[in-house]
Amino acid sequence: MRGLVFLCLLGYSHADFATFSWNGPGVPTTSDPNTDNVCLSDPSTCGCCLMQRQMWNMENLFNLTLEDFQKNLDHTQSIINNMRSSRSAFSVALTDTRRCVGPYANDVVVKYRSVFINLGDGYDTSTGAFTVPRSGVYVFALTAYSDSGAPGFLLAACVHLRKNGITIAGLDEYNNQDQEDSATVVLAKQMQTGDQVDVTLLASCYLCDDSSHYNTFTGFLLYATD
Ligand SMILES: *[C@@H]1O[C@H](CO)[C@@H](O)[C@H](O)[C@H]1NC(C)=O
Repeated sequence: MRGLVFLCLLGYSHADFATFSWNGPGVPTTSDPNTDNVCLSDPSTCGCCLMQRQMWNMENLFNLTLEDFQKNLDHTQSIINNMRSSRSAFSVALTDTRRCVGPYANDVVVKYRSVFINLGDGYDTSTGAFTVPRSGVYVFALTAYSDSGAPGFLLAACVHLRKNGITIAGLDEYNNQDQEDSATVVLAKQMQTGDQVDVTLLASCYLCDDSSHYNTFTGFLLYATD
């Protein structure tokens, strides 16, 4: 307060009072026209005027800080919205009713018909392929199971997990002793938007399933990378 009064007297005693200006570091880019006018027309209110100016500075600082917060909040909000809109997860099983698929003469894409979840509609039950909605690291899990019907008959649960038609993991269960067998693979892989992931049943192999869902195929976005 003493400083304010001193400044006030200093300003008053000078002839060039009219040119007095409040130029210091952190001076607001915009000026408050009202305070200048009052200060010049009635110098006796200078102290009050300076306080008003200080308050105006503080208000300006507060406004700028608030603006900064708002900007950061908007940025964070847009990241969250982006994450929400790109959520992707599918988990499917071969069938709901007792049925075997194969054996066929050639490799065929397995069409999983029973859908647990298909968030983002990336999995197409009519083609059996999952189309990657956006680049990122994805986790895939595949379990294959088959039942030879009776011990001693050939069991051949053999499938490949493919990315764009190229095998990235395989499961092979050939066994003449067992009647039933299953195998699982879980992996994480970088994918690009539009990549296709599917499962092929190898020639002369077959899968059997029922409502217990022994054959499942799952994939989800772990985190986006674009
Ligand atoms: C601070 O923001 C309020 C609301 O937008 C506005 O009315 C006021 O004039 C601003 N103050 C300064 C010093 O910029």
